Amino acid sequence: MSKARDKGVVKLGMLGSGVVGEAVQDLILSGALKGKCSKELELVKVFTRSPAKKKWYAKQPSLFTTRPEEVTDHPEIDIVLELLGSQDEAALFSFRDHIIRAFQKGKSVVTSDKAVLAKCGKEIWSAARQYGRELRFEACVGGGIPIIRSLAEGLSAEEPESIYGIVNGTCNYILSEMKKGGKSFGAALREAQERGYAETNPEADTSGQDAEAKLILLAGVTFGLLVEPGAIYRKGIEQIHPIDFLYADRKGSSTIKHLAVARNSRGRISAFVSPVLVPYRHFSASIDGSTNAIFFKGKRSGDANGRDWNYVFVGPGAGGGPTAVAVMGDVLELAQGRSGGSSGPVGPAMSGSVSLQSEKEISAGFYLRFVVRDQTGIVAEISQILGGQGIHISEVWQLHHSRDELAGLIEHYKLSAKPSEVLPFVITLEQATVGQIQKAVEIIRRKNFILVEPVWLPMWSE
Ligand SMILES: NC(=O)c1ccc[n+]([C@@H]2O[C@H](COP(=O)([O-])OP(=O)(O)OC[C@H]3O[C@@H](n4cnc5c(N)ncnc54)[C@H](OP(=O)(O)O)[C@@H]3O)[C@@H](O)[C@H]2O)c1
Repeated sequence: MSKARDKGVVKLGMLGSGVVGEAVQDLILSGALKGKCSKELELVKVFTRSPAKKKWYAKQPSLFTTRPEEVTDHPEIDIVLELLGSQDEAALFSFRDHIIRAFQKGKSVVTSDKAVLAKCGKEIWSAARQYGRELRFEACVGGGIPIIRSLAEGLSAEEPESIYGIVNGTCNYILSEMKKGGKSFGAALREAQERGYAETNPEADTSGQDAEAKLILLAGVTFGLLVEPGAIYRKGIEQIHPIDFLYADRKGSSTIKHLAVARNSRGRISAFVSPVLVPYRHFSASIDGSTNAIFFKGKRSGDANGRDWNYVFVGPGAGGGPTAVAVMGDVLELAQGRSGGSSGPVGPAMSGSVSLQSEKEISAGFYLRFVVRDQTGIVAEISQILGGQGIHISEVWQLHHSRDELAGLIEHYKLSAKPSEVLPFVITLEQATVGQIQKAVEIIRRKNFILVEPVWLPMWSE
């Protein structure tokens, strides 16, 4: 700890000066935090590869450096804010090295970078322990929602059963627009980009990669489960078509939400990221736009009849402002000498008592949407294939589609068929496993009546 801190000044260094970095600089350099902390906070160095492009460069050029070591090795810096962002593996490894180097040099680290923690969390937490430093990551999940602190501290006496929710604002915005305005995925995505919700390259959001990284951190703090990206079953929202909202709404009294889910069943954690059919009565169905909603179900505070208790956290899921508030929440805690808390995965996995259920074992009721070339006997043939995998059909849903709707499907999927030849319908399934569905769909998709890759989604159940 620097001498300055003993005198009441805590010195900060920043790695990264993008959307979040500049929002944090605004908070610190504009004096907006005056009176919020018993210590004075001073930003002394900011690493970026392109200082001259940065907002605060003209006023404070000496603040900026193009060498990350001038932040990690700075003798006076107490806390390093790692606000870098990349999906590139080599870049993530270099970000990991900066964080570990900061620990080695005696600094605590606050990060908003969920990708580096999801990818390299084990090494980073182990380095934090080895060098006796703090790592805070509230801004990695749920934007401005203080979910990590709530799980690690406020709810730590609960026996966690599940943690799940809407954790990617871009996906939620796109799905909300598709439902409201019947827009295609592409049109809703373009709108999200125009409004600044989605990145120029939005694949990390729409493929579920961003939600997976967040789920890894949530499951880590909730259950102590530490897994790497790729281990969790993941589906994005690209396959969803406005027609799915029609079926979900008119036949299922449901909508579609992109959820990240982790549930504990006697030490086996069932975790997945996927669009899910959610009944309107579930609170998540009403969460629209870029808002995030995270649900925690616990047991210990339940009554004598063994009732579960549900906690809901709702708030702005992303954006420079809310994320900067979360980053500074961590900084203020550390600056005031609070240690422990959300410094890492804390649950039973640390003693090896929970493990990830394989993706094939994940069990749910399912929604299966087909677009076929209309002919007799299709439902019977599909039923037989499903039955062959031990899957029971719950219902068959068929809507009357206007000629325009069918022409829209033909255009969207670039089908060479007339509207009168195209038949969309849905089959819902009783409880089955992902492994069973994958096997059945693999057979069904090769049938000559299939015009469009079947879309299958889990249906929500508590
Ligand atoms: N934006 C949000 O709403 C939000 C919310 C929660 C968490 N986060 C996370 O916070 C982090 C920052 O997000 P952001 O929105 O500020 O991203 P951003 O605007 O894209 O900024 C990324 C920063 O990382 C730096 N960077 C990227 N690749 C690099 C590389 N290979 N080597 C060195 N520096 C590199 C950039 O450097 P230059 O300055 O040189 O261009 C920039 O300073 C990300 O991990 C993101 O996932 C963002």
